[in-house]
Amino acid sequence: MRAHEAGWAHAAVSVRGPAWLREPADANALVPQLWSSTARKVDGVLEVGGVRLTDLVAEHGSPAYVLDEADFRARATAFRTAFSSFDVYYAGKAFLCTTVARWIVEEGLFLDVCSGGELAVAVRAGVPAERIGFHGNNKTEAELAEAVQLGVGRIIVDSFHEIERLTRLTRELGRTARVLIRVTAGVEAHTHEYIATAHEDQKFGFSISSGDALDAARLIAAVPGLELLGLHSHIGSQIFDSSGFEVAARRVLALHAQISDEVGVVMPEMDLGGGFGIAYTTQDDPTDPAQLAIELTKIVTEECRAREIAVPRLSIEPGRAIVGPAMCTVYEVGTVKAVELDAGAVRTYVSVDGGMSDNIRTALYDADYSATLASRSSDAPVLLSRVVGKHCEAGDIVVKDEFLPGDLVPGDLLAVPGTGAYCRSMASNYNHATRPPVVVVSAGVARVVVRRETVDDLLRLDVDELQPMED
Ligand code: LLP
Repeated sequence: MRAHEAGWAHAAVSVRGPAWLREPADANALVPQLWSSTARKVDGVLEVGGVRLTDLVAEHGSPAYVLDEADFRARATAFRTAFSSFDVYYAGKAFLCTTVARWIVEEGLFLDVCSGGELAVAVRAGVPAERIGFHGNNKTEAELAEAVQLGVGRIIVDSFHEIERLTRLTRELGRTARVLIRVTAGVEAHTHEYIATAHEDQKFGFSISSGDALDAARLIAAVPGLELLGLHSHIGSQIFDSSGFEVAARRVLALHAQISDEVGVVMPEMDLGGGFGIAYTTQDDPTDPAQLAIELTKIVTEECRAREIAVPRLSIEPGRAIVGPAMCTVYEVGTVKAVELDAGAVRTYVSVDGGMSDNIRTALYDADYSATLASRSSDAPVLLSRVVGKHCEAGDIVVKDEFLPGDLVPGDLLAVPGTGAYCRSMASNYNHATRPPVVVVSAGVARVVVRRETVDDLLRLDVDELQPMED
C-alpha cells in the first residue's frame, strides 16, 4: 500500500520543498518556458514534435533523450539572427552528434569543439574545417597536428606549451594556423552573480593581470606560421544577465588595444564565449538572445569608441541555450516509495529506469530540474516527490523536488525537460548502465540519431583473459 492510500497524503505534502517551488495549478499542464516549443499534452500524454512519448517509448524503449528538431533549429536561428553581426559558434560540448553538427552548418552557425573526439564528429558530419573552432587547455600533439592539417578556422591557444607545439607543428607541416588567445579576465559569472577579482585561480587561459596574455601575444606575433586573430574570453555558465560580460569585455578590449599599441598587431576578431542561461525550473528567468545581442554589442562598441579602436568581428559560443531546452528525457517509473521523515512527514521517492548515469548534473552541481507525468492524466492530489535513479548511490537523484500526482504507479512515464545540455555528453556507464539513445522527433516522426548502448557494446571493451568456456 502506498502512503497516500494509507491516508498520509496530508502529512506527505507537509514536507518542505525549496521556497521557490509552488504546487502546480494544474498538474496535467506543462509550464511552457521549461519545454521545447512543440511539447504539449493531449489527454495527459506528452507529445513532442508531434510524437506521443508513449509511442516513442513503445518503439525505442526508455529511458530516452528526446530531441525536438524544430526547437533546436529555431534556437540556433534565433542566435544567428539576433547576433547577425557576430559569428555564432555552437559549443559542441553541450551535446554533439553528427546529425546535430549538420544542423548547425545548415542553420549558418559555426562549431566549437574541445577534443579530438568532438573534432572527429565534426569531420564525420562534413563540417567545413574553416567553420570549426578548436578549444582545450591540454590539446595533445596529435590533436593539434590534426587540427593544423585539416586547416580548422581557429585554434584557441591556452598555454605557452601549446604555443611551442604549434610553432613546431606549423613549421614541420608547412602550414599556417589561425589562433585566438584564451584569456582569463578575472571574472567568473554564474546565474545572476558574477565575481570580478584580480586573481584567477583556475586552469584555463592566460591571465591578463599577470601579463601572461600580453606575453603570449608577443610570442605568437613573432611566429611566421601563426596568425593572431584575436582574444577569447569565457566567463562561466548559466549566466542570466550581461553584467559579467561587461566587466570581462572591458578588460579584454583594454588588452586588445594594448596589443595593437605595443605588439603592433591589430587583431580582427574577439570572442566573448558562451554561458547563456536557460530555465530549468520556474525560478529561472533567462534573458532573450535578442536582448543579449543588443547589450553585448553596445558594451563593445562603446568601449571601442572610447579607446578609439576599430570594433573587432565578434563571436560567441552558446551551447546550453541552444540544445538545453530542445531535449527532454523520458523515463519509466519502476517503484514508488513513501519514506517517513521527521514529525510524520513523508517524502515520495519515485524511482525511474535511469539516473545519474544519464543526468549527472543534479548530483554534481546540485542542479534543479522539474518533471511531469507523461503517459496519462491524473486527478490525484499532488505529492512533493523526489525522482531518483536506479544506481547504487543515495545521491542518485534526478529531480530533487517536484509536485507529482499522488497515484503514480510502476509503468507510468515521467519526462524531465531541459536535459539537452551536458546530460548525454556527460553520461556514464556507472553500474554498467547502457547509455540511452537520442531520438529526434519532428513532424510526427521519431528517428534514432544516437542509438542505445547495449551490454554487448560494454562487453566489447572488456578484455577477457580466460578462454571462452566450452559447453
Ligand atoms: N565556450 C567555452 C570556452 C566553454 O568552456 C563553454 C563551456 C562554452 C563555450 C559553452 O557554454 P554554455 O553556453 O553551454 O554554457 N558541465 C557543466 C557546464 C560546463 C561548461 C564548460 N564550458 C554543466 O553541466 O553545467
